[in-house]
Amino acid sequence: MKNRPIPYRSISDVEVERYAEEHSYPESETIQKLIRQSDNELDYIDMLSGPLVGNLLQLLIQISGSREILEIGTFTGYTAIKMAEVLPEGGCIETVEMNLRYQKIAESHFSQFGFDDKIMLIKANAREYVTKLHKVYDFIYLDADKLYYEHYYQHTLTHLKKGGIMVVDNVLWNANVLNPSDSKSMSLDRFNKILAEDERVDQILLPVRDGCTVLRKR
Ligand SMILES: C[S@@+](CC[C@H](N)C(=O)[O-])C[C@H]1O[C@@H](n2cnc3c(N)ncnc32)[C@H](O)[C@@H]1O
Repeated sequence: MKNRPIPYRSISDVEVERYAEEHSYPESETIQKLIRQSDNELDYIDMLSGPLVGNLLQLLIQISGSREILEIGTFTGYTAIKMAEVLPEGGCIETVEMNLRYQKIAESHFSQFGFDDKIMLIKANAREYVTKLHKVYDFIYLDADKLYYEHYYQHTLTHLKKGGIMVVDNVLWNANVLNPSDSKSMSLDRFNKILAEDERVDQILLPVRDGCTVLRKR
């Protein structure tokens, strides 16, 4: 691994976060290899959601028995493969990515690690894709295009089944939502406030990594 600063944003104490990671179940061999390959190929891999969020996704999928999953924001395929590792037989993950380079890397990871039959890479602008959804999902993970979270939320919530789960990453934006002064933190703060008052869902904002909201549709 290259010698770089902390590989992703952290709002918690770095040592506390490291301790939490060390005392959670470890990444699979596949995922460790995917991280190494992503790191070798790209200058920065700080967009990877990381093991705490990755394990949270896996546990929520296992507890809920979710089979039909939508992910907004693939990057190199880390969370798509994390979710696919625990997907029940016959389940499917649609993951949307518009960056050509990341599409290519993710695609090669899905086939290298044997997940072609479980993961469908949607090569599209997710902003448009979510306006044309035609099925109902058990589980949705939002992790792209932070200025447009409200757009993604409103369009995808109607396609989440009753009792379905949505996870939204980076909602604390390095704690900048506490005093929002740039467009992303203002947009995320507005999004968090909309969610907190939305009576269609039960939700909790967890101060895990960069802030992670978990919600259940009523
Ligand atoms: C934070 S990364 C996703 C990380 C991934 N979930 C993981 O943990 O490995 C966000 C990704 O969304 C992609 N993205 C951003 N805006 C998008 C859009 N409008 N449509 C599709 N993909 C988009 C970016 O190219 C980037 O790869």
